Amino acid sequence: MKLISLKSLEPGKKLGRPIYNEKGTLLLGAGVPVTSRYLRRLKEMGYSSVYIEEKGYEDIEVNDVISDKTRMEAVGAISDTFESVRGSDKRSDSVALDRGKVTGVADKIVDDLTGSGDQIMDLIDLKSFDNYTFMHSVNTSVLTVLTATAVGKFTAMELRDMAMGALLADIGKAHVPIEIVQKKGRLTPDEFAQMKKHTNIGYEMLLHKSQMKPLVATVALQHHEYFNGSGYPNNLVGEKIHIYSRYAALADVYDSLTSDRSYKRRLPPLVGLEYLKLGSGTHFDPKCLEHFIGHIAPYPAASTVLLNTGETAVVIRNDIKNIARPMVRVLTSPDGKELDKPHEIDLAKQPEYTIQSVQS
Ligand SMILES: [Fe+2]
Repeated sequence: MKLISLKSLEPGKKLGRPIYNEKGTLLLGAGVPVTSRYLRRLKEMGYSSVYIEEKGYEDIEVNDVISDKTRMEAVGAISDTFESVRGSDKRSDSVALDRGKVTGVADKIVDDLTGSGDQIMDLIDLKSFDNYTFMHSVNTSVLTVLTATAVGKFTAMELRDMAMGALLADIGKAHVPIEIVQKKGRLTPDEFAQMKKHTNIGYEMLLHKSQMKPLVATVALQHHEYFNGSGYPNNLVGEKIHIYSRYAALADVYDSLTSDRSYKRRLPPLVGLEYLKLGSGTHFDPKCLEHFIGHIAPYPAASTVLLNTGETAVVIRNDIKNIARPMVRVLTSPDGKELDKPHEIDLAKQPEYTIQSVQS
């Protein structure tokens, strides 16, 4: 598989990973050839890159940390939940939130993540403008639980609460005016002030109107608090922010930075991680940040990178022991000529090589 920018994608190549809509329903399956019509549509949908099948890249696997089935079931469940909550009266004492459905997908996320040892996020969760909201909620949950699982001190029940809290962190947006939530562009200060209310609205909704556990509701309330007290809604400082919320805050910001939006292009994982590091101790708990960074591949498999030698290479695989120095396959000479016989370099063992930049 190869990660390729849509700008460089020629029609006829086959998709490496499926494309889903905002309800988690399959739109285009893996292996489907990208015709010029599909290519145009993918651009309109807001994708900047896709994974494709490519000769010479057959052995490069892009492994998600949870199954596609779990991810899309979770997207569907969150999409349904938002829809039914949107339909509930804001003034009513209860909201139509199917607790069993959300608990079910949270359990599946935890099961997938705890079943196979210490994992790293080695793919980019590509999104369109339309499926962003719910895929973002799911990926925030996945990244929160991935990091917390690796810490090793949380029980399955605690991980499930964390997964649910992160999945429902933005549920309050269902009662923020839809034209603000779906605005294609940056929010004005007044709109942003209204948007910020989703934290308190979500908390009230989860705690008092749908009988969720207090800790699940707490994640909705606190996921925009910053470690130094400069966040919202309550300017909480340090450990006054619950540990679940401190992990969810990192996952939320990271996933948003690395996703395409109508007003900005996604950042590559490496750059997203650098942004997080700039917020260590101010926006984020440094210890949580360390755990988080240790589990996200800055150069995910199937990415094309430029080495310090001027050679172009593709990332073959990542190892958690040396997450910033993957195994790569060199494809071109320093002057850009394609090599007849590509060769592999394990950057973890050859310190003279460095990655200078990452493409697509
Ligand atoms: Fe939020």
